[in-house]
Amino acid sequence: MAERATLFEVGPRDGLQNETRFVPTADKIALVDMLTDAGLAEIEVTSFVSPKWVPQMADAAAVMAGISRGAACYSVLTPNLRGFDAALAAGAGKVAVFGAASESFSQKNINCSIEESFERFQPVMDAARGVVPVRGYISCVTNCPFEGEIAPEAVARVAARLRAIGCTEISLGETLGKGRPERVALMLEAVLGEVPVAALAGHFHDTGGLAVENIRVALEAGLRVFDAAVGGLGGCPYAPGAPGNVASEAVLALLEAEGFETGVDAGKLAAAGEFARGLR
Ligand code: HMG
Ligand code: MG
Repeated sequence: MAERATLFEVGPRDGLQNETRFVPTADKIALVDMLTDAGLAEIEVTSFVSPKWVPQMADAAAVMAGISRGAACYSVLTPNLRGFDAALAAGAGKVAVFGAASESFSQKNINCSIEESFERFQPVMDAARGVVPVRGYISCVTNCPFEGEIAPEAVARVAARLRAIGCTEISLGETLGKGRPERVALMLEAVLGEVPVAALAGHFHDTGGLAVENIRVALEAGLRVFDAAVGGLGGCPYAPGAPGNVASEAVLALLEAEGFETGVDAGKLAAAGEFARGLR
């Protein structure tokens, strides 16, 4: 039997959060429903963050209330306890805290230092224990828009802490899409010294056209979960120069070519991609 790999769809969240035009709630719901129908096992739907910081996600509760639930796990970003409480009320199957390996990016994205971010995560971890699994994101795993190259050890330190506080999965965010494969390999080597490979996910933006190559490196290192955005939507409003997540269609093609089983219907995913691109 073919080995399984997971496409973790982040388009509705990481993809749409960067769009300056407000995407109507009904369109967001329709996109998530198409992704459910395409067989995605993991769909990151939205973020329970401050609407002043990310206005596009202001309709998080309405989107969660409107989607048709299928077999997927529907996850959301929760920067603090307030976001967590709202996420739980909205029926999230998984939540995510998000930090960074770079001090400057942490300040720009969540308005606190790395140390302070862990103080904010703790109440979320305490509330989530035994209730929902928590994914932990690390941004800037190779490069930071403000600090340049990030040392692999800095990423490994944050990964070890996220694991220690109880994150079941740690997603390694190559936020800028600038990390060359050899630097991704060094970063993974450092992180794998701290966290078992089964608890890691790769999150590659495709700014420099390197994402698929970097995913190959991560596959070789044993990672089997990859974040991607349908239609290649995406970016981060607090990472200047980070336009697009790697497209789910491209990651699916790679995983299929490498002989992995994903459960995703390529035709339905392509149709969702077309719909997603029309939302821009
Ligand atoms: P803050 O200003 O330090 O915190 O923001 P605060 O507690 O003082 O709150 C500020 C305002 O937000 C207040 O409203 C709060 O009530 C409100 P005001 O009194 O000014 O009217 N607020 C909230 N509203 C709704 N839901 C909440 C919430 N919390 C506070 N949960 C905070 C700190 C974290 C809230 C803010 O910085 C924030 O929301 N940041 C979100 C940034 C974001 O979403 N970035 C994109 C996602 S991360 C990403 O894309 C990277 C990733 O893809 C991986 C990669 O590629 O690297 C994951
Ligand atoms: Mg991202």
